[in-house]
Amino acid sequence: MSIKVGIVGAGGMADYHYDGFTLAGAEVTAVADMNMARAGAFTKTRGIPGVYDSLAAMLAKEKDMEAVSVVTPNKFHCPVTLEALSAGRHVFCEKPPALNAREMEEMLAASQKAGKTLMFDFNNRARPEAQAMKAYIKSGKAGRINSAQARWVRRAGIPGFGGWFTTKALSGGGPVIDLLHMIDLALYFMDYPEPAFLLARTFDDFMGDKAFKGPWGIPDAANGITDVEAACHAFLTFKTGQCLAIRNSWAEMVEREAVSVIFQGSKAGGKVERLFGRDGIDSTSIDSCELFLCENGNQVNQKIMTEKDETMGRVGAAANFINTITGKAEPLNKPEEALILMKVIDAIYGSASSGRPVELK
Ligand SMILES: NC(=O)c1ccc[n+]([C@@H]2O[C@H](COP(=O)([O-])OP(=O)(O)OC[C@H]3O[C@@H](n4cnc5c(N)ncnc54)[C@H](O)[C@@H]3O)[C@@H](O)[C@H]2O)c1
Repeated sequence: MSIKVGIVGAGGMADYHYDGFTLAGAEVTAVADMNMARAGAFTKTRGIPGVYDSLAAMLAKEKDMEAVSVVTPNKFHCPVTLEALSAGRHVFCEKPPALNAREMEEMLAASQKAGKTLMFDFNNRARPEAQAMKAYIKSGKAGRINSAQARWVRRAGIPGFGGWFTTKALSGGGPVIDLLHMIDLALYFMDYPEPAFLLARTFDDFMGDKAFKGPWGIPDAANGITDVEAACHAFLTFKTGQCLAIRNSWAEMVEREAVSVIFQGSKAGGKVERLFGRDGIDSTSIDSCELFLCENGNQVNQKIMTEKDETMGRVGAAANFINTITGKAEPLNKPEEALILMKVIDAIYGSASSGRPVELK
């Protein structure tokens, strides 16, 4: 019998959840969206029988549904996840895990209480390049990672003005929280060490300038709110002695969009990168995985060639959730890691607003 899954939120990301779940042999039996027309359009093209306007309505009817994925705007990640966990369902939730660490603490406690799996869509971990690099690091050949740089910077990538992405109360923040993928990937490569201190600055330039809007996101809302940062620079130290530099932006005078984690180990360094095409879309991008080595006294750069994945690991990450709950795979991420990540995000906003370093506890 295949696992039955329901999707909450039939927006842009729901396609990848559907593809990943079905790839892993699960059956998507229903979709809930407060916008019934959207849910209806999604289910119709895929022959999904259940269409609901809320998670509560879906759970009341779909008694044999074992898992739920949360693909709503960020503000609803915590309440929808708590509702699904307390109804005894496993949960796969989009990133960011929550608006802040306090919410994430509640979600972690709820998953423990329910004894159910809680995973997040840190899809960049599922990229073939990231898995190849993680395997290399795990083999010990890179030695200890001393330092890393995580960056997802966009020159003109504001995802629409006045919609939920740019309204702090709905999104939790701008590029710091939206583009947290490379911070998570760097921490994953470093084995999620315990953070110590963080110092950050954020900048708001260009947040009212339509020339800095990206080719993706949601339509502008005429009277909507735009009150999030445009760019962030931060530096994080860990109790282990390691350190991480962070750069995230939607609008900043950078050369071009750049998405990478670079690290320096005691035996080797490495870089996992995605270079988007000029149009900034996935299908024209180039992914790479490169090692920086000293072999027999020679300084060499060596590429690790992996299969291409235009979805940036999104399908693989959703498939891993199903394979985790069916016992066929180890989870690609754990809620305890998501809590550390949300503490780092909180510290970035805390330090940027106070102008002082933050000690993470
Ligand atoms: N992993 C990635 O690469 C990636 C990329 C883009 C977006 N995301 C994340 O995916 C999530 C959704 O983004 P999107 O671009 O699909 O958004 P979207 O705005 O296109 O769609 C969200 C949908 O959720 C519905 N919705 C809102 N609140 C709801 C609720 N309480 N119950 C039921 N339905 C509800 C809306 O009606 C809408 O149809 C966000 O958290 C975003 O950060 C992840």
